[in-house]
Amino acid sequence: MTNSAIFENLLNHSLQLPCGAVIKNRLVKSAMSDSLADGEGNATNAQVRLYERWAEGGVGLSIIGEVQVDHRYPEKPGNLVLEKGIDLDMLRTLASRASINGAHIWPQLGHAGGLSHLPISKPKGPSALNLDNFECAGMSDVEVSQLPEIYAKAAMIAKDVGFTGIQIHAGHGFLLSQFLSPLFNHRQDKYGGSIVARCKIIVEIIDKVRDAVGDSFPIGIKINSTDQLEGGLTQEDALEVIRILDNTSIDLIELSGGSYFPGAKPSSEGASNGPYFIEFAAKARCLTLIPLMVTGGFKTCDQAVESLGTGAVDFVGLARALVINPNIANDWLTGTNNEPDFPKFKAPPSGGITAWYTMLLSAIGSDNDGDFNIELSSAIHHYESRDYARCAQWKEKFSINE
Ligand SMILES: Cc1cc2nc3c(=O)[nH]c(=O)nc-3n(C[C@H](O)[C@H](O)[C@H](O)COP(=O)(O)O)c2cc1C
Repeated sequence: MTNSAIFENLLNHSLQLPCGAVIKNRLVKSAMSDSLADGEGNATNAQVRLYERWAEGGVGLSIIGEVQVDHRYPEKPGNLVLEKGIDLDMLRTLASRASINGAHIWPQLGHAGGLSHLPISKPKGPSALNLDNFECAGMSDVEVSQLPEIYAKAAMIAKDVGFTGIQIHAGHGFLLSQFLSPLFNHRQDKYGGSIVARCKIIVEIIDKVRDAVGDSFPIGIKINSTDQLEGGLTQEDALEVIRILDNTSIDLIELSGGSYFPGAKPSSEGASNGPYFIEFAAKARCLTLIPLMVTGGFKTCDQAVESLGTGAVDFVGLARALVINPNIANDWLTGTNNEPDFPKFKAPPSGGITAWYTMLLSAIGSDNDGDFNIELSSAIHHYESRDYARCAQWKEKFSINE
């Protein structure tokens, strides 16, 4: 067998998840907050086209970043919301066009908790915190007890409009990642203390979502292998989380890292040049046979194939590579070892790289990515002014008073 035939074979192999659903190949578009909803939580034509482009481009599964389960705690005003009062027809269109070509399309169920977007929310995490660079209120016992139902309702909307699965976001410093992290979670009740207690709300959410969606609907989860933060989730605790998840009905565990806590390293900036979390995946594999997806730092087809070849990784998650080339899955699946041409930014300002990639996502959604060429400063300006305008819309739609 030639090298390219081996490549083709490994990446092209379908995989059946524990719930019975089959993902046609091993390349997954990892969640990215696309900021393309309409400012009122509804899907737009640009968003529909964006996910259709990735489905045309050959991915086995696309995950829509930051789809909010509760409009009170969004990550951004361009997020989708899965609640009563949202435009279900547009969501149906999104689910249907994003799943052409046999692709799966899953919304990532998000709740930003203490990191929710300040202009349109009153951030609330597991515990009240008042640090130099960060402040949030703490959730009451009643508010915590309502979370499983909130996630289950959102999952049911997703299922009803035709999404083919959901992912629970428990990474990157947002609410469920805050519960896991000793830095955010100082609770004295059954949801704080040991890692088993800090993970309890996640298990309750998984169980409630499973009861709602039934046995054959895929439920994935994204977790951090570490927060890369002093006092945050350690690798040992993250492995304990894997052990706990192994006893749940989760179908796919995505391994990531980093946090959007002010000043922390985000998930798209790993320590190494190659894929970031392969060693952690090898340790996790010893603890579970639930399919594992690793996201972060993949730049070449060889890296993707080698990772699958270790036996520790079942799916390769790609984010930035699929923004630079939405067709990269088709290239790699057919043995064309095309390397995405990652831009190099010198001393980028904070948030600049995310703004640049997000503006390129918008260009893909309007089929204008061919000649995309903007400076970081201009990307930041467009990104921030669009969010600024949407904050007003969000407040009006959801009746948020100052
Ligand atoms: C513009 C942008 C937005 C992102 N938004 C999300 C998100 O909404 N949810 C999430 O779990 N990860 C998000 N991420 C992180 C990616 O899913 C991924 O974990 C990270 O970029 C590392 O993968 P990569 O090296 O392939 O880019 C985002 C990344 C980028 C670049």
